[in-house]
Amino acid sequence: MKIAIGSDHAGYLLKETIKEYLIQSLKIELEDCGCFSMDPVDYPDIAEKVASSILRKTAQKGILICGTGIGMSISANKFPGIRAALCHEPVSAYFSSAHNNANILTMGGRIIGGEVAKAIVKAWLETDFQGGHHKRRIEKIQNQELRNVC
Ligand code: RB5
Repeated sequence: MKIAIGSDHAGYLLKETIKEYLIQSLKIELEDCGCFSMDPVDYPDIAEKVASSILRKTAQKGILICGTGIGMSISANKFPGIRAALCHEPVSAYFSSAHNNANILTMGGRIIGGEVAKAIVKAWLETDFQGGHHKRRIEKIQNQELRNVC
């Protein structure tokens, strides 16, 4: 599996911590969509890069980190087919995979530390989607995207 990862300046340090964890401990291949320093960037630009990687299937899942994780989740969820889950503890991360089949995990670098973030990433990656009635609910979301309900 390949993971696309991205952050803005406020998530940069946590992104680097998570990158090392994914590569060294979990032996997962990464695509780093930036940013590459703590110089300010706009989080929607990075969210778009990670979402595009998933939708074009160059990566299977994505991780996005900003200051709170909120802007990244709002932005990523604008792309049909993306299910981005903001998680700041492992139980939500578990259910975001088991019930929501979240293909992007978002976190806030100003909210949690590296060890909690690693536990979140581990729970999210190690949990399989349960399917069944959860699949039906995701299909309803896909339908809502198609109908562009307003
Ligand atoms: C940047 O200052 C900050 O607004 C951003 O990282 C994020 O928290 C937005 O949701």
